[in-house]
Amino acid sequence: MTEVDLSLLQIRRLHSGELPPLPLLLLADPSLEVIQQYLPVSDVYMAEISNEVVGVYVLMSVRSTPAAIEIKNIAVKEGFQGKGIGKRLLEDACNRAKEQGFSKIVIGTADTSVMQLHLYQKVGFVVKERLKNFFIDNYKEPVLENGRQAKDLIMLEKRL
Ligand code: ACO
Repeated sequence: MTEVDLSLLQIRRLHSGELPPLPLLLLADPSLEVIQQYLPVSDVYMAEISNEVVGVYVLMSVRSTPAAIEIKNIAVKEGFQGKGIGKRLLEDACNRAKEQGFSKIVIGTADTSVMQLHLYQKVGFVVKERLKNFFIDNYKEPVLENGRQAKDLIMLEKRL
């Protein structure tokens, strides 16, 4: 088990010209095609401990609701999960979104993502919408998690 000193955690925006950490992004979203659609119109933030990238999140403004921003992707490196980094990333995303003038932050996850749904609600997100069959209609391969196939997308939001 990797020991984690959260006081060493630094979160920063990806520099221009710097490559986003694709293997980490793929942990949260199994479709490279989908990731490549939102990356060019998003801001990427990376979490590092002693210069090692241990986490990432991606923020994209919501076209239909100018006051809202969405966390499109959030991931913590395997071996560093379950130690509080994900919670810190979510808090950082909320703080930055508020500083940027957004009044609402949203996040979506699969109906099979039990731990993620628990975590998001723990930091103040509330379930707002269920998009039926989203993963069946938008992903070429079945998305499997916790021994079940993801079907619906659950959208949660938090007022800032
Ligand atoms: N089992 C059950 N609950 C857990 C677990 C676990 N393995 N790990 C964390 N939790 C819960 C706990 O309730 C914990 O709260 P606590 O303070 O009561 O212990 C809470 O979640 C916070 O956990 P963190 O340690 O902050 O979470 P972590 O650093 O693991 O980050 C994340 C969470 C980002 C979901 C990470 O596990 C991950 O990268 N998973 C794979 C990728 C993924 O699923 N990303 C999200 C997809 S949705 C999207 O991207 C929009």
